[in-house]
Amino acid sequence: MALFSAGRLHRVAPLFAVLLGGCAVEPVQSMLHPAGPAAAAIARLWWIMFSGFTAVFVLVMILLLRAVWKQPARLSTTAVGDGRDAGSNPPWGRNGLIVGGGVILPILVLTPLYIFSLQTSAALQSPVEALTVRVVGHMWWWEVRYPHQGIVTANEIHIPAGKPVRLELASFDVIHSFWIPRLNGKRDMIPGMENVFWIEADKPGIYRGQCGEYCGTQHANMAFEVIALPQDEFDAWVAAREARQRPASTTERRGFKIFMTAGCVQCHAVRGVQPAGNVGPDLSHLGSRRMLGAALLPNTRDNLTAWIADPQAFKPGSKMPRTELGSDDLQALVTYLEGLK
Ligand code: CUA
Repeated sequence: MALFSAGRLHRVAPLFAVLLGGCAVEPVQSMLHPAGPAAAAIARLWWIMFSGFTAVFVLVMILLLRAVWKQPARLSTTAVGDGRDAGSNPPWGRNGLIVGGGVILPILVLTPLYIFSLQTSAALQSPVEALTVRVVGHMWWWEVRYPHQGIVTANEIHIPAGKPVRLELASFDVIHSFWIPRLNGKRDMIPGMENVFWIEADKPGIYRGQCGEYCGTQHANMAFEVIALPQDEFDAWVAAREARQRPASTTERRGFKIFMTAGCVQCHAVRGVQPAGNVGPDLSHLGSRRMLGAALLPNTRDNLTAWIADPQAFKPGSKMPRTELGSDDLQALVTYLEGLK
């Protein structure tokens, strides 16, 4: 009672705000807030299973409590000494309890749940005709390719809203798991294997994805975003990826020179620039991306500068080393990269 006294209420209010916040805030990564047909089928099955198993749990608890409260009274009035318990037979008989509770009831409960799960599996079949995106897991980022459009990007998957998108999933190194909770379930990315998967977003929006399989120190920071756009905006996005980006200003040209000589180009590619490294994420159109470091940091000038200067401060264990550049050179490099819109 004292917990809720007027004087204390303001102290616990933030706690309630955090607890309730789970319900009120726009869900970023909740499979119970589906935003596409596959995720909706999975969420529906989840609620059916949850309801079914909650009913079973409640029934078992009622029987358990009944046994706990009733049995001692019965035992005290029956002959315990001869090992028989004449008073504990239920009205439907012992065999009736075993057949009813052990055979018929499980069949009645589990058969519908099994049928619902088969229906869900059928609803999750990949569509045949769809835009294809190839996603390759790396420690700890996502390579994203549109093979028919000739687009290469990283850590962001642009899709048209309301259309199924076929995904070819592969891994460069270890087992990762591709997971966008609001759009579909998980699918493993296995070295030497290709898994076909699909997603569809009902409405335009940003849907966060996360690696779902422990893959090393930065597993938790291996995230990405699916950006679903209206079809015309998606077409515009595709068209804009084809533009070749040249450094325009003096500072950008200086930054480009640093990009080519300071080691960046050995690991990263920029469309139209040779040689093209393939160790790290493709940096074409980096300036138009929302996030840096696999959805770790918002793509601001300050963050990009700090990231290039010392990626290990943000993502220890990642392959990108510290960059030993003077302040002016670093700023020029950032200006060049930000200019890649
Ligand atoms: Cu990739 Cu966990």
